[in-house]
Amino acid sequence: MTSARYVEDPRPDVRVLPPRAAMRSDAPRIDLCGRWRFDLAPRVEAAPAGFADPGFDDSAWAQLPVPAHWQLHGYGAPAYTNTRYPFPIDPPHVPTENPTGSYRRTVAVPEDWAGARIVLRFEGVDSCFAVWVNGHEVGTAQGSRLPSEFDVTEAVRPGADNVVAVRVHQWSAGSYLEDQDMWWLSGIFRDVALLARPAGGVDDVFVHAGYDGGTGTLRVDAPRGARVRVPELGVDVAAGDEVRIEGVQPWSAEVPRLYDLEVVTPGERVDLRVGFRTVRIADGVLTVNGSRVLLRGVNRHEFHPDRGRALTEQDMLDDVLLMKRHNVNAVRTSHYPPHPRFLELCDEYGLYVVDECDLETHGFVHVGWRGNPTDDPAWGDAFEDRMRRMVERDKNHACVIMWSLGNESWAGRNLERMYRYAHDRDPGRPVHYEHCPDGRWSDVYSRMYASHAEVELIGRREEPARGVDPVQDAARRAAPFVLCEYAHAMGNGPGGLTEYQELFEAHPRCQGGFVWEWIDHGIRTRDAQGREFFGYGGDFGEELHDGNFVADGLLFPDRTPSPGLHEFAKVVEPVRIAGIPDGRLRITNLYEVLDLGHLRFSWTVEEEGVEVGSGELAVPAVAPGRSVELDPPAAARGTAETWLTVRADLAAGTPWAPAGHRIAWGQVQLAQRPRVPVVRGTGTPALDRVGGVLTGLAGVAVDGPRLDAWRAPTDNDRIPHDSAADAWRALGLHRLRHRVVEVRDSDGDVVVHTRTAPAALDACFHTTARWTPLDGGGVLLDVSVRPEGEWPGPLPRLGLVWSLPAGLDRVTWFGRGPGEAYPDTHRASRVGRFTSSVDGLQTPYVMPQENGRRAGVRWAELTGTGTGLRIEAMPSGEGDPETFGLTVRRWTSADLDAARHPVDLEPGDRVWLTVDLAHRGVGTASCGPDVLPRHELHAAPARLRLALRPV
Ligand code: GAL
Repeated sequence: MTSARYVEDPRPDVRVLPPRAAMRSDAPRIDLCGRWRFDLAPRVEAAPAGFADPGFDDSAWAQLPVPAHWQLHGYGAPAYTNTRYPFPIDPPHVPTENPTGSYRRTVAVPEDWAGARIVLRFEGVDSCFAVWVNGHEVGTAQGSRLPSEFDVTEAVRPGADNVVAVRVHQWSAGSYLEDQDMWWLSGIFRDVALLARPAGGVDDVFVHAGYDGGTGTLRVDAPRGARVRVPELGVDVAAGDEVRIEGVQPWSAEVPRLYDLEVVTPGERVDLRVGFRTVRIADGVLTVNGSRVLLRGVNRHEFHPDRGRALTEQDMLDDVLLMKRHNVNAVRTSHYPPHPRFLELCDEYGLYVVDECDLETHGFVHVGWRGNPTDDPAWGDAFEDRMRRMVERDKNHACVIMWSLGNESWAGRNLERMYRYAHDRDPGRPVHYEHCPDGRWSDVYSRMYASHAEVELIGRREEPARGVDPVQDAARRAAPFVLCEYAHAMGNGPGGLTEYQELFEAHPRCQGGFVWEWIDHGIRTRDAQGREFFGYGGDFGEELHDGNFVADGLLFPDRTPSPGLHEFAKVVEPVRIAGIPDGRLRITNLYEVLDLGHLRFSWTVEEEGVEVGSGELAVPAVAPGRSVELDPPAAARGTAETWLTVRADLAAGTPWAPAGHRIAWGQVQLAQRPRVPVVRGTGTPALDRVGGVLTGLAGVAVDGPRLDAWRAPTDNDRIPHDSAADAWRALGLHRLRHRVVEVRDSDGDVVVHTRTAPAALDACFHTTARWTPLDGGGVLLDVSVRPEGEWPGPLPRLGLVWSLPAGLDRVTWFGRGPGEAYPDTHRASRVGRFTSSVDGLQTPYVMPQENGRRAGVRWAELTGTGTGLRIEAMPSGEGDPETFGLTVRRWTSADLDAARHPVDLEPGDRVWLTVDLAHRGVGTASCGPDVLPRHELHAAPARLRLALRPV
């Protein structure tokens, strides 16, 4: 056993072999994934002595799969912090309590490997490790999400069983560079293999495949004497020769055309799939093959709720397919290079990638960036080594259109070294870095969470100067703009996507961005009663943690798309279908390469949500960037509210979706909702004259309504300092009290005046409810709400809450659906008629919060056991809303607010119905801009007329 000084030494071990491209080779390879013997010790010194010796007896040890994280197999526990280091800031030192895993296995090496150079390759080990083969130490490495190779030729005995021993430390100097916002998870979490490297083999290859106006250019740097062949193109040239090839089809995310390329020497043949494409910044705009690209991107961490960052190929494919099916065209590999297979999938299926280095020193922000390694020359080699290992591994992927130095590591000389390395080695790709005030180490101007207003200024190249150097400032202003993170998808949201997209489409410089983030990192776990839920920070006994900030993705942890992903897919759809004022339809092609010939357009006409006509729509093969105007294929035939829906679906299957997959849709209203005459009935509404509420309707035990101005705070309401939710709680919106001021009879109606207010405040809402009996046993409720006094700041909602028997467990509605919708997240919902169980209306956010609202509801019916209830908006014709927002739950907003995980929510014997007169948008204030002014809700008079009838 050697000393473990390497753990706290940031300098790369010279025994690690020079990095090289990931390739498929015909050279012999032994996969070392599978079960290894494993022992976890609490400290380096407590790790079993002599464990690397071939004769060491490990028979009493347990087994652990490789790849895996030990914390997800019962050793230690996962821990989540966002930016704070979970250990004292004392670089490069780490705590003595440094969990250390010892791994052992044997590998039978064939006899015919004798004479070959033998290399042991690790694709990713978190965070630092030392390796022995047959008791000989062969090297150490850091850089968790980067490959390391060791020459083990001297140590291996071909024709015999060989013992590979690996000691992995949870913390190391490298941990200071790996402070990404994610779970701290350790171990050998990517593949391990033993490689026989043939003499005269192809150790490394660098493919340069460009494209310009129909001509491809190809040069492959490879060992002298190697042949380069692209059989499909008839190319057979020597390594290093540059060829021009006419008639090549270019690679793009939309048409990811790849060609098989082989590089052959007498000793080895490697196979690559290459795409011809040229990335260039031209006139301040980022282009691929000469076309401006608009990045409809997501930030992707590698995550699985059971496996953490140890993904299977299927997990990666699931991500790629889900992205492609939701109109995503770009990925930032936040904040480390992904498993190499993921990039192959991006090449094949077509996704632009910003490949980001494994670097984040964010925790130093908490000490004013004092001691930040980014500007400390002692760490310079470590920084450059990380960049080098990423660039060398991934340089042959067409999908990688930019290199990124890392994330949130502030500024300093070591970034300069990374930037230079990438530029010098690979002039064919721009370099990205966000976290530096003057943009010195970035070829694009990158920001995160900039507000819409600022993005607009940037779009006009009128943004305020940042940084002190005017030359640098001018360079930045001339650069393309990307939002490397925007639209924080935490919980209910993100709001404001549409308005960002409008800016990206209006300003050529604004080239889109990457939503934060792709998937919630909730770890599947169980409560004391054995009920399964997705755990977040604090659920695993961490003394320092950042709660559910780790659950901020467009996918739930189990990869179910959240409403946010549906909204994103709709907002960024590459075809826009809209009505225009002259009554015609406009179909706009927002693709960059594809014409519309690959889509099949169809239409339906619905009267009050019931289909009355349908057909195909002939749409020409409109070129990218162009649009066509067409007469609508149908007209309204009666007086019912009528909508035309036009859909654009894949005409034929693609590798990522079957024929018929929906790409885009649009709706045009053909006939307005008719006024429904109100026919007065005779009975008297069943009102509680003390409580001022309805107590029954035709035998249905209705109780309500009571005015509500509260919602269970969303993450966006709750997370910021001085949050909206803090203000609402301070006002007491969650504990409103009602005083019935008056119940009087008036011309056969009953009028109830209620004053609603929280304790300790003199502001209030006056609600006047006029109840009119309707023909057929229903009632008409004409309700007006008038705020009085000071109601500072925005309100979450103005709604009417009712409780109903739990047997009413189905809801049918005519309005927006099928999914939830809030004022700034309603694009994905269309007007139609929908049915759901009450349970099906709930969105299981990892942290319970307001959810499940349906917007623009004209009427809804709650049915189930016994008589049901129909509730219908009856416009007065005086400009009051013709629709309402609808939430139906088996629990109250207070229950939702109190719950910490969905399993905490237990159905009671009532169903709670909330009918919104008005509701606030959701915004993205958990990280980024709050609700835009147009989606805010301020205290103001409101009115709604509702007919309630038995069904
Ligand atoms: C950014 C950071 C991400 C993530 C996000 C908030 O500042 O780059 O890693 O922490 O904030 O979820």
